[in-house]
Amino acid sequence: MASTFETGVDRRGTACIKWDFQEMDYGRSGLLPFSIADADWPTCRPVLDALKKRVEQGVIGYTDIAPEYLAAVAGWCERRHRWKIETDWIVPIGGIVPGICNLLEALTAPDAQVIVQPPVYDPFYSVIRASGRRQVDNPLLLDETGYHMDFAGLEELCKNGASALILCSPHNPVCRVWSREELARLAEICARYHILVISDEIHWDLALGGREHTTMGQFPRLYEHLVVCTSCSKSFNVAGLETSNLIIPGDKVRQTFRDYLFARYLFCPNTLGMVAAQAAYEGGEAWLDEALRYLTANAKAVVDYMRENLPKVKVAEPEGTFLLWFDMRSYGLGSEELVRRIAEAGAGLNAGSHYGAGYDGFVRMNIACPRKQLMAGLECVKKALEG
Ligand SMILES: Cc1ncc(COP(=O)(O)O)c(C=O)c1O
Repeated sequence: MASTFETGVDRRGTACIKWDFQEMDYGRSGLLPFSIADADWPTCRPVLDALKKRVEQGVIGYTDIAPEYLAAVAGWCERRHRWKIETDWIVPIGGIVPGICNLLEALTAPDAQVIVQPPVYDPFYSVIRASGRRQVDNPLLLDETGYHMDFAGLEELCKNGASALILCSPHNPVCRVWSREELARLAEICARYHILVISDEIHWDLALGGREHTTMGQFPRLYEHLVVCTSCSKSFNVAGLETSNLIIPGDKVRQTFRDYLFARYLFCPNTLGMVAAQAAYEGGEAWLDEALRYLTANAKAVVDYMRENLPKVKVAEPEGTFLLWFDMRSYGLGSEELVRRIAEAGAGLNAGSHYGAGYDGFVRMNIACPRKQLMAGLECVKKALEG
């Protein structure tokens, strides 16, 4: 029998952004979508069963954070990420993006310089702006072996007064699963300059091809200035439940942040989101392993397809996340024009220029969908580029 990864689900008519709101991005609808970062397959059985049971009980009232929930999160950290945490360190919050905005407001000065490493997930830019902080860029370096962090550039910005860094790990959109050595070097610099490290690890469960993600939680020297942002929203495809967990080992930072949340009544987490996360962390491990195998095979299918059919497109090595990053600069077209042509051919992808200045000519593709849909999307890309 075909797996649910293979069959997927028809999401049309559920007000889902990817399928039902294409007009806004592409000026047309009916495209095969490979855009916003959720998957086109259902979450795992334990999550569905737990949600059903909770809904059947009939009251979705105000709910506090159960010890079982915290134990499930801590258990996942230890089993999947080799990070032993105190349950006290867990601060459940809604989405990670609003969480980062709150963190900047609570933990940095109003004129703080905040480092980002473009090309990177574009809401980082928005929340820095929205919180009135100043964005300072340490662009990733690209050579023939792929993307790397610019440690000299990072140190320079720290020296020049930056006080926080938003790290994306694994990195959306360049698919890097940063190595332990790279992260240790980053941790050393940030600890030396007392930089607040907001480590967005929303994709932490999605290291592909048997790779291992290293959480910044592995570097205790950072603990007085560290927030690790985690969620099961990407790995278990429950992003609409807007539930995540900030893990904050440093007492002072955590207390300051908790006080900020309490003063704003931001302490009541999403009831069904917590039900889903607990079930995923308690019973979803085998399903996640299967999802990772499927995603790894999807990534390979894309790399092979490009090599055979569109050799002018350079695909960043898909180490992690389900968002692939294509360098299409050899076609001499800007990202918006590339995306427009691909949409005309029937598929919806994201313009690389959204992820930072200097990435015109790049395009991002979400591969978390049935293989058949993925291959049909690649045919559209080929038709758009090669006719
Ligand atoms: C790096 C990164 N952070 C955060 C998010 C979104 O987080 P949330 O929906 O919890 O706000 C995404 C979604 O694609 C992402 O890629």
